Amino acid sequence: MSEMPAPYGSGPTKPADSPKPIKKVRVHHLREMKQRGEKWAMLTAYEQYAAQTFDEAGIPVLLVGDSASNNVYGNETSLPVTVDELLPLVRAVTRSVHRALVVADLPFGSYQASAEQAFHTSVRFMKESGAHAVKLEGGHAVVPQVELLTRSGVPVMAHLGFTPQSEHGLGGYRVQGRGDTAARMVEEAVALEEAGAFALVLEMVPGEAAEQVTAKLSIPTIGIGAGPHCDAQVLVWQDMAGLRTGRMAKFVKQYADVHGVLLDAAQRFAADVVDGSFPGEEHTFH
Ligand code: KIV
Repeated sequence: MSEMPAPYGSGPTKPADSPKPIKKVRVHHLREMKQRGEKWAMLTAYEQYAAQTFDEAGIPVLLVGDSASNNVYGNETSLPVTVDELLPLVRAVTRSVHRALVVADLPFGSYQASAEQAFHTSVRFMKESGAHAVKLEGGHAVVPQVELLTRSGVPVMAHLGFTPQSEHGLGGYRVQGRGDTAARMVEEAVALEEAGAFALVLEMVPGEAAEQVTAKLSIPTIGIGAGPHCDAQVLVWQDMAGLRTGRMAKFVKQYADVHGVLLDAAQRFAADVVDGSFPGEEHTFH
């Protein structure tokens, strides 16, 4: 079905030089891709140039993760980041994409207390940053939140398995859903789908458990350390592109050495300044 034009005007939806309108990714497209057996990729993004680049690359969903805490703000975990710190990052990303669906992660403490708290936080993300959807962590405990948000017109991405906001409760970075606990994960996944979630992140889950959940749901599963059977895969972009260095989690594949490229550029720039070869005549006004 082709999409109707926005009834009241919706700002620019295509680059100025693009010959035809760009079709925005909507939550129903993701469900249809699952029905067709088409896999897709999600990346995190926290600012303009990465967001523009990933949108240009055709990545259909960008997540402004609370992982900004440890990938932008320099914290050790995702726990300290606040709504007020995430809002401007989400705003930068939504302003920078033409096609991608932008999901704002609800930070720790901004939705767990009640469905009403989740509603008020989500309204801030939708109104103040232009988020297209929100993500929250948890199973049965957040079903009321997912129901109220969905009823209110806020698309919700759910998140099971290792949920970083509960790192201390879970006893550290540990694979979840091994053995008997896989059945409970399947139950929670079904409850989240029934509550209205449009997609489900599965983090650090055995491949077999993720396969069971994926087969049971009609919404897409998005794996991170959950094996090859999920409908989609997500990585933190600085891990994927090699901006972050050092020991990586087992599930990370690095596709570039952006750290190496930046290091080399910065060192050559500094050397040119020190030896006087920059700025040259061509960089000088007369
Ligand atoms: O915050 C985040 O980046 C995430 C993804 C890794 C799924 O939750």
